Formats: sequence, structure tokens, C-alpha cells
Amino acid sequence: MKKLLVISGHPKLEVSLANKTILNLIEEKIDNVKVRRLDSLYPGYQIDVEAEQHSLQSADIIVLQFPLYWYSTPALLKKWLDDVFSYGFAYGADGDKLKNKNLILSFTTGGPEQSYDTLGYNHFPISELIKPLKQTAYLTQMILHPPIISHNMAYVEGVRNTPAGIEKKATEHSQSLISKLNEVMLLAG
Ligand SMILES: Cc1cc2nc3c(=O)[nH]c(=O)nc-3n(C[C@H](O)[C@H](O)[C@H](O)COP(=O)(O)O)c2cc1C
Repeated sequence: MKKLLVISGHPKLEVSLANKTILNLIEEKIDNVKVRRLDSLYPGYQIDVEAEQHSLQSADIIVLQFPLYWYSTPALLKKWLDDVFSYGFAYGADGDKLKNKNLILSFTTGGPEQSYDTLGYNHFPISELIKPLKQTAYLTQMILHPPIISHNMAYVEGVRNTPAGIEKKATEHSQSLISKLNEVMLLAG
């Protein structure tokens, strides 16, 4: 049985609609998935590197679940990467502890899909913007799968979206993620 680990990089899940729903559904629908909510584990951003490296080493499939913040991961998840993907662990001499582990980026954006286009207000396709994360996977010798992305997930009361609409899209996102996880589990044997 392959071991699944989900790292939640949302800095404040108590005010989240999309990521909170996705995480709750993943926990509800998948047996034995381990979810680490970095916001509640590390409210002061002091990451327990040993504990995080231990969970990564025990996992076969790792999901990074986060909202897109300034075209990147939230600072909490970036700090987690900076601290945990260290020399000798994730890269460099003997740094092969993530080698052949499966990685899935699963994230939500506020901007609509068409904004991530040369002619849109976000100008660049998402595939361009996530290149630093892609290269992180390549350097650490992880097996990177296509990302699961849901666009237009920001809720602004009376202006943009409704809580029910976001929850519906978040439910669809969790279903896509679960299908992907099942596929990767089959491939990983
Ligand atoms: C600090 C901050 C930065 C953001 N930057 C982006 C961005 O670069 N691109 C984008 O499409 N949405 C951006 N958003 C919108 C969030 O991605 C969106 O609100 C989030 O995915 C919704 O998920 P949640 O309900 O779990 O918070 C940003 C939101 C915040 C608070």
C-alpha cells in the first residue's frame, strides 16, 4: 500500500474556503492519508525539520496543496521548502532522500483561467510561473505529475463568487486530485 502525504501550505486555513474544503474532503475520502497543516503545526513559522523530513521519507506520494500567492507558494510553504529540502537530504552529496517519490502540485488561484495567457492580465501561462517548483522536483529527482489547478477560487463578498460556488469547485478539485492519486498509486504499484 503506497503512503500518501499531503502538505498544506495555506497560512490561515480558518479563513480559507477552497483549500480547507479540499483538505477536508481528501481526509474524508482517502484511507490512511496523512495531512500536515503547516499553519496549525507552525503558527510561528519555526519548522520542525526533522519531523518534516521523517514524514517525507515515509511517504511514496507527496501532494503540495496551496493557494497561489503572488504567482508562487505562500511564504509558509516556501519556508518549509527552504528548511526541509536541505543539502544532504534533498540534493547534493547523499541528498537523494526524495528520489523517485511522486510529487503532485495541487493549487487554487484567484485569477480566472483566461487571465493566465499572453493576452490576459496575468500575462504568463501557469506552466511558466511554476517552473521553480518544477525544477525543484527535477533537482531532487522526484517524479513530477501534471498539476491539479482550480482557477477563479477567490471569494469577495458581494463582488466575486459565492461560498457555495467555491465549495462546489473545491469538491470537483478534490475529485480530480483523488482520481490522480488513484492513477499514481496504480502506476507506482
Ligand atoms: C497574499 C495573496 C496573494 C495572492 N496572489 C495571487 C496570485 O498571484 N494569483 C492569483 O491568481 N490569485 C492570488 N491570490 C488569490 C488566492 O490564490 C485565492 O484567494 C485562493 O486560491 C483561494 O483559496 P482559499 O479559499 O483556500 O484561501 C492571492 C491571495 C492572497 C491573499
